[in-house]
Amino acid sequence: MTDHDEAKVRRVSRRGLLTAGGAAFAGAAGGVVLGRVTAPDGASVVAEPTPRPELSHVSPAGASAQQTIDFYGVHQAGVDTPEQTYATFLGLNLISATAQDADSVLRIVSDDAARLMAGRPSLGDTEPELAEIPARLSVTVGLGHSLFEKTGRTDRIPAYFPAIPAFSTDDLDDRWSSTDFYLQIASDDPLTLAHAQRMIVKALSTLTTVSWVQPGFRSPTPANEGGRASRNLMGQVDGTVNPLPGSAQFDTAVWTGGDPAWAAGGTVVIVRRIRMLLDEWDRMDVAAKEMVIGRRLDNGAPLGGEAEDDPVRLDVLDESGLPVIPSSAHVRIAHAESDEEMILRRPYTYDAGFIDGVQDAGLIFAAYTADPRRSFIPMQQRLADKDAFNRWNTTIGSATYLIPPGCAEGDYIASGLFA
Ligand code: HEM
Repeated sequence: MTDHDEAKVRRVSRRGLLTAGGAAFAGAAGGVVLGRVTAPDGASVVAEPTPRPELSHVSPAGASAQQTIDFYGVHQAGVDTPEQTYATFLGLNLISATAQDADSVLRIVSDDAARLMAGRPSLGDTEPELAEIPARLSVTVGLGHSLFEKTGRTDRIPAYFPAIPAFSTDDLDDRWSSTDFYLQIASDDPLTLAHAQRMIVKALSTLTTVSWVQPGFRSPTPANEGGRASRNLMGQVDGTVNPLPGSAQFDTAVWTGGDPAWAAGGTVVIVRRIRMLLDEWDRMDVAAKEMVIGRRLDNGAPLGGEAEDDPVRLDVLDESGLPVIPSSAHVRIAHAESDEEMILRRPYTYDAGFIDGVQDAGLIFAAYTADPRRSFIPMQQRLADKDAFNRWNTTIGSATYLIPPGCAEGDYIASGLFA
């Protein structure tokens, strides 16, 4: 028996144990296995056999504590899902670069994610109680270029999944760069999220190593009544001009179609770690801050407008003949001319303490697009060339992944690709 064979046997045995343990745990947790019902608004929720009113106090977002998001479906969850309050992004690498191991990773993650997202313990869950509050948990799986390379499948890389070039304003640290696998785990309850992350990483521990982890959060409170966007650490209303899930614009901008068939209904994610130079930003007055972005700080209205949802009028001039939204304002330079050029911005704030006495905080800028060649790359190039905002931000990490489509019950993500 070769070392490799031995390793495989160890892995299989471990999964066997996990499975056996899982059965025991499923039994132990029998009292908390919950039934599905559909809420009046159509949201899928988990109904408990016995009322436990105290649960609503356990989660910070009590209203969503028992809400579940389906793992199975045409698309993976976590992209068109309304943003959960917490998200952790992980980059993982295969320990031994075989297609068989890649396939095992996808099977295990899919199985664990489906259970945990439904509010049930994962196989071999060592803390099954922590699975009881799904709080809109979602797990999204991505594949990096290196995975296709290591497993001899570069011919399967879709043309719309190119490498993202470096830009002149980047100051990239390799520690945040692309890996074989990507996981985005999000929930309204940070403990649920931490549990799901731990169970999945543990279940994969003989197959993968964790290269990086980026925890993020966002305000669950919209900045304006009835709005979707919340504020970032600079105080800006962030996320106003974004494709609306379920709209034709969203379908065009985000979901891949056509060729190759196995990847249709997926998307491409670009995960940029953007450090905000907050101390520098704080030195400016409100008017200057608003000119840099092109929107007001109080309610996020575009300059020249009154309310957040007012159209961004790039052509309006002030009394001295200058554009009301300055020529180098962030929204002007970033603006997409067509649905094809749009991206879905689903960023989370990170706050990682201090480096040499300077705060290390900013955005984990996750952008989803059907084709970065027509959206993200030209957009980021324009921003690097002309955006006034560059002085107050530095991109320190960049990774990109193909997010395969969702799968049907009983199947797993990207099944057949590595099998
Ligand atoms: C720390 C980094 C960034 C911050 C704080 C930031 C903040 C903002 C804010 C406050 C707005 C206006 C409100 C809205 O429509 O959401 C905005 C708009 C936008 N941003 Fe950013 N942004 C950042 C980086 C980026 C990057 C890297 C890209 C793309 C490569 C980008 C693309 C856009 C787009 C497409 C819009 C909408 C423009 C339009 O009105 O059509 N942003 N951003």
